[in-house]
Amino acid sequence: MFNKVSVKLILILCAVVLVNLGFYSYYTISKLKQDISLACTQNALNLSDIVKKSTRYSMLLNKREDIAQIINTVGTEKGVYAIKVYNKDGLVAYSSDSSEVGKIYDVKSPSCSPCHSQPQLPSNLPLEQMVRYFWNKDGQKVLGLINPIYNEKDCYTAECHYHSGDVKLLGLLDIQMSTDRVDNVVNSNVSGIVTSTIILTGVLALIIALFVNLMINVPLKKISTGIKEISRGNMNYKIPLESRDELGVIVKQFNNMSTSLDKAYKEIKDWSETLNMKVEEKNEELKKIYEQVVQIEKLASLGKLSATVAHELNNPLEGILTYSKLIARKLDKDNGTGQFDPLLKYLRLISDETSRCGRIVKDLLLFSHKEEGIFDNSNIRDIIEKSLMIINHHFEIHKVRLLTHYPQESIIVNCDRQRIEQVIVSVCINGIESMPDGGTLKVSLSSENMYCVIRIADEGKGISDKDLPNIFEPFYTTKSNGKGTGLGLAVVYGIIQQHKGNVTVESTSSRGTVFKIELPQLS
Ligand SMILES: Nc1ncnc2c1ncn2[C@@H]1O[C@H](COP(=O)(O)OP(=O)(O)OP(=O)(O)O)[C@@H](O)[C@H]1O
Ligand SMILES: [Mg+2]
Repeated sequence: MFNKVSVKLILILCAVVLVNLGFYSYYTISKLKQDISLACTQNALNLSDIVKKSTRYSMLLNKREDIAQIINTVGTEKGVYAIKVYNKDGLVAYSSDSSEVGKIYDVKSPSCSPCHSQPQLPSNLPLEQMVRYFWNKDGQKVLGLINPIYNEKDCYTAECHYHSGDVKLLGLLDIQMSTDRVDNVVNSNVSGIVTSTIILTGVLALIIALFVNLMINVPLKKISTGIKEISRGNMNYKIPLESRDELGVIVKQFNNMSTSLDKAYKEIKDWSETLNMKVEEKNEELKKIYEQVVQIEKLASLGKLSATVAHELNNPLEGILTYSKLIARKLDKDNGTGQFDPLLKYLRLISDETSRCGRIVKDLLLFSHKEEGIFDNSNIRDIIEKSLMIINHHFEIHKVRLLTHYPQESIIVNCDRQRIEQVIVSVCINGIESMPDGGTLKVSLSSENMYCVIRIADEGKGISDKDLPNIFEPFYTTKSNGKGTGLGLAVVYGIIQQHKGNVTVESTSSRGTVFKIELPQLS
């Protein structure tokens, strides 16, 4: 708590106020005491002068009873303890206390010392030397005032001739008064001043505390909350404080800083999100490339094998086909009564199956790129239209509707026409076969980023997740009973690779499949 700036400030300000008010009170009390004591002394002096003046006439006439009477009367006044008249030798000539009369006091006593301590009697005593304070035997504080009675002309010329003219001082009037009333006034004033000082200090301390709290503590608390919010991640936190002082300027700068921080934080967040997305995209691309590489490797090794096998099989197959046709022709000639009909049937079966084997071998050779293509620049739309015309009867048989979409401008591709025709035919036949109950096959052509893109979309049952990674592999088929060889897409893949293009399944679901074929475009 004492480490708080506001508490330190309050304590310092309160201490300053307390010291100031303390000094002020001390000065006021001292001044008050001084003034009251002066007034008191003046009062005693006045009384003393009154006694002196009222006894003067009786003294000149030497009427001792009158003098004693006056002194007694004044001595009974409230607050007057005693009135005495000493002669110059210290003898009490008159006293309000009759038992004192005739007593001789030592002239060296404190009451006589102002005159008798000096070598020559002073003609005029200063007021402070006339006054003394002491405690009487009852323990009461007493103000004593001595008033010298000088030997004036009318004293030593009076009829009585009691005093000769050489004597300077005739005696001393000593008045002893109570200081109770004055002390009471002083005490009540002192306690009033002290009480009001304490109350004033308290009120000022309260006002200081309120102001310091309002001007320093509250803004500092708000700033502290702001810093906590920022460190908690709430970068856009604004301190709600409107003020023109230094703390207001700090708050304004803090709020500007939080705006910048928030902006920077959002930018970093966006960047990291974009970075994450980019990393994911690149990962996906790498995965695809890796799969393609694996596929290419597989196909390459398979391609080599297929090429060798196909090459080795091609000649024997040609031989079988030629000889089976020769035997069939010979038997046909000699088949007068039709006795060779069963043999001819078998021979036709042999040549049909051999032709099928020949086609497979041809496909294998195509797939393995062993045969160089004949490349020239062609309008791809013409190739697509020609391919669709070739398989026109397939659409009719399977009750499939054909929808095409071509761009206005012609797209030229450097390609082997026949092989691209084979690609389109293979993919379209797959699409048609995926719709045994009929449907629509959409073939569209477009140009995207200098690539000619052919999309072939069917409304078939789609390709399962299990089959999808394998469909481009040679001999992978889901068609039963030798209906498919599983070479169609493998050959498509090989041809498109040869053209430095791409073939992918763009989408597949229970509502159909879209194949996307991309070929580098010339114009
Ligand atoms: N459009 C399609 N819709 C659903 N499945 C398809 C589609 N195209 C290809 N397939 C699947 O991919 C497999 C491989 O196709 P591919 O063309 O290579 O061989 P195939 O059609 O089975 O036989 P063929 O060698 O006679 O073409 C098919 O058996 C089929 O399961
Ligand atoms: Mg096929």
